[in-house]
Amino acid sequence: MISNLNIIDEGAEFFEISRRNMLKVSAAMFSAPLAERVMSASPPAPSGVRSRDLTQPARTHPPVMLPVALNVNGRQFDVRIDSRTTLLDALRETLAMKGSKKGCDHGQCGACTVLLGGRRINACLTLAVMHDGEPITTIEGLSNGNPLHPMQAAFLKHDGFQCGYCTPGQICSAIGMLDEAQRGVPSHVTENLSVAAVPLTQQEIRERMSGNLCRCSAYPNIVAAIGDAAGVSP
Ligand code: FES
Ligand code: FES
Repeated sequence: MISNLNIIDEGAEFFEISRRNMLKVSAAMFSAPLAERVMSASPPAPSGVRSRDLTQPARTHPPVMLPVALNVNGRQFDVRIDSRTTLLDALRETLAMKGSKKGCDHGQCGACTVLLGGRRINACLTLAVMHDGEPITTIEGLSNGNPLHPMQAAFLKHDGFQCGYCTPGQICSAIGMLDEAQRGVPSHVTENLSVAAVPLTQQEIRERMSGNLCRCSAYPNIVAAIGDAAGVSP
């Protein structure tokens, strides 16, 4: 018959052995260099997959520099650029045009919106080398020598901003959006899909501008400004 005392003794013995083994394993691990410990602690790689030797530095790929002619706001800039550079970084860092803003760098906020041949695009989601010779318009090129583009004037009139960080993207996007509606491009809320030009309503403006976020929540004034520029009654 197993007494309670025996169970306690066996448990104590087991615990002692486990503790001893644990100390031995720990001592062995911590006396080895870090990389060795990490490698030995890692599960084996599946057959056919080579695991990276962590004792060696990671391989880096040298940049591929390509020539590109960036046509921005009517001026041509011939530059050599890392093929991985986004259009947004090319504008801001290579051409020093800081008007287009970097909010998320992931296509989520619209702060980097520019016009490519009149169509609005997120400059952070496209590579500069893909736009060799294509006409790009940024916020700096909208007024075309005149005091202000009508959309810029409407934003001023309606106080369509607070900090202003999203504003260049909002204005470029609004200009592209008006052109889309004019060409009959439907949105998620367009009811009549067979019209040549989609009539703009407050709802259409809000839906079509939903890719441009404003952290200051100046949305009512932004919508009012765009509506004014588009001739939509409030
Ligand atoms: S910075 Fe391009 S969408 Fe946010
Ligand atoms: S005005 Fe500040 S983020 Fe839009």
